[in-house]
Amino acid sequence: MVINFNDEYILIFMSMKATAVANTNIALVKYWGKRNEELILPYNSSISVTLNNLFTITTVEFSKNLPHNEFVINNRLLNENEVEYSRIDNFSRIFKKLAGMDLNLKVVSKTNFPIASGLASSASAFAALAAAFNTALSLNLTYEELSKYARFGSGSASRSIYGGFVKWFKGEFDDGSDCFAKQIKDENYWPDFRILVCITSSKEKFVKSREAMHRTVKTSEFYDAWLQTVEKDLDEMEIAINNRDIRSLGLIAENNALKMHATMITSKPPIIYWNSATLKLIKSVLRLREEFKVNAYITIDAGHQVKIITTSDEIDRVKNYLSDIKEVEQFIVSSPGQGVKIVQEHLF
Ligand code: DP6
Repeated sequence: MVINFNDEYILIFMSMKATAVANTNIALVKYWGKRNEELILPYNSSISVTLNNLFTITTVEFSKNLPHNEFVINNRLLNENEVEYSRIDNFSRIFKKLAGMDLNLKVVSKTNFPIASGLASSASAFAALAAAFNTALSLNLTYEELSKYARFGSGSASRSIYGGFVKWFKGEFDDGSDCFAKQIKDENYWPDFRILVCITSSKEKFVKSREAMHRTVKTSEFYDAWLQTVEKDLDEMEIAINNRDIRSLGLIAENNALKMHATMITSKPPIIYWNSATLKLIKSVLRLREEFKVNAYITIDAGHQVKIITTSDEIDRVKNYLSDIKEVEQFIVSSPGQGVKIVQEHLF
């Protein structure tokens, strides 16, 4: 059915409301740097795992009866002058254009983990928004299309559309038409895979990842070196996933994350996200591995939180060992999770 959104009668009676839940994802080979900042086109492809237990739930409604847009994020009504407001507004315009309408929009969204602190909250947030818009506006987009549009909210959101292990292809075309993610393996493929998320502080980070990425590309002499090694990391990561080889996967992911941080640390002015707990966690995991032969590997995004890659039979040992680090506010155990889904319970 083709809906004509200019038809007054349909607009009054149709409910253009939907709610979606999206899990966040952690990159095993990171996305770092954009070849086109407007179209959010990355310089390199990336591979991630979508996590259960860490999600955003979002209800959207387009309505003729709304006098203006209303965006409520984690119980806070956004002001029109805020960057987050413009990001959601601009993002919604893509979907309104696809649907051929321009109604005001209400968004209520909740994320169940600390936002803007290096835990990829924008990934789950924009994946949930994209899926909710798709359903509310009856756009019937495919997963690949959803991934492509989610990218405009935040690059990493393109991967949270899918569950399990996911690859986001950088694409070659200038218009970004070949830049979207695909699933490598679903969430049931590796049941023993675990990520231990260590919240070292729930405070917001001092430089947003978008700005950090931009500054690194422009000013770090190590950025080219980063790009030269990523393809190899991607190839080896896919092999490690295919073999369910936790040691290879962990070593590649850890090295890849540290290389990304090396480009940040060497940008001008430098971006150093780590706090003392971050550093203690890194050293403890290295010790766990070297002295006690435990399969545990770190990865860190643009922030101070540490994620530890391990398996179900090692997770308690890792957690017990790290519980001595008193600065860690919270440990969250996570496994490969599902892709985005539509639910029937709305937030308003
Ligand atoms: C370090 O997806 O938040 O987490 O596209 O500018 O919104 P924008 O960036 P974002 O960056 C994520 C960077 C990273 C690595 C990764 O998730 O691949």
